[in-house]
Amino acid sequence: MKEIDISSCPVIGRGGAGTVYRLDEDKIVKVYHPDMKLESVQRERELARAAIVSGIPSVIPYDTVRCGESYGIVFEMIASDTLGHAFAGHPDKTEEYVDRYVAFVKELHSVHLKTGSFEDLKTVLHRAVPRLSDCLGEAELELLNSLIDSIPDGDSLIHGDLHPGNIMVQDDTLLLIDLDSASRGAKVWELAALFRNLIVGPKNIPQIVEMSMGIPVEMVSDIGHRFFKRYFGIQSEEELQGVFGRLLPIYAFNTILNAAVSGETTGSVYDHIPEMVQGAIIPHEQAIRQGLRELS
Ligand SMILES: Nc1ncnc2c1ncn2[C@@H]1O[C@H](COP(=O)(O)OP(=O)(O)O)[C@@H](O)[C@H]1O
Ligand SMILES: [Mg+2]
Repeated sequence: MKEIDISSCPVIGRGGAGTVYRLDEDKIVKVYHPDMKLESVQRERELARAAIVSGIPSVIPYDTVRCGESYGIVFEMIASDTLGHAFAGHPDKTEEYVDRYVAFVKELHSVHLKTGSFEDLKTVLHRAVPRLSDCLGEAELELLNSLIDSIPDGDSLIHGDLHPGNIMVQDDTLLLIDLDSASRGAKVWELAALFRNLIVGPKNIPQIVEMSMGIPVEMVSDIGHRFFKRYFGIQSEEELQGVFGRLLPIYAFNTILNAAVSGETTGSVYDHIPEMVQGAIIPHEQAIRQGLRELS
């Protein structure tokens, strides 16, 4: 594997997974935390490649490289900013950027991915459930598996973390980055993740939201409200609260499975999984099944 010296390269971005450096005029390297396994890095590169092959507007990945103690992936450099910075830098253009954001999400969801181009969402989720066996009982694990089975089949790209910090603006085009949790499945799963990013995140984890999106949290909430109104063609606050009421239990289900997929065995979400299952999943099982069906 090629070794790259990044000591004199400028930092152009940071996220949860690591730091992004500019290598030259047309390449960047995303350098992961040293504890990130090669397997996970290779997986992100494979997913980024699958996106390009499938015609998803995204960024071309090149080699996997070694940078000191860490692994990195070299990507095509996008010489412009994230949608997050565009929102933050132009408060007068919120409505315009929200329109573009919603159109982009709908465009992504209208691409029919071929079987095998990405791993099936439900396969990914089922595989993660046993990782929760330390904190949940047999019946609870079975319930999660049965709820996963009730997600409708779909052939859309499910990015899983489609917030404005993971979208680059290049002139008239928006491009996806950070595809490490992409899969192929039903749109409802993306909507639940967007509800987490844009509606619940600003309240529960404001610092993380500001850091990953580069937008003040009050603005993220505003973007979130406008996003869902626009996405569902809703005018009134009352109708919006109706949609939020349907997304909320699916969001809880999504959040539990996200923790399982990411393999984290400590931390704010993992430690609360048993009470989330008792308080947010079991009493709302029918609402989750219905919402999964109706919002797909
Ligand atoms: N191909 C690219 N060209 C230019 N900037 C990029 C590119 N990829 C990432 N960045 C910058 O680096 C930041 C973090 O990258 P990202 O892939 O989202 O990492 P993480 O997984 O850590 O969130 C982005 O928000 C963006 O500002
Ligand atoms: Mg990111």
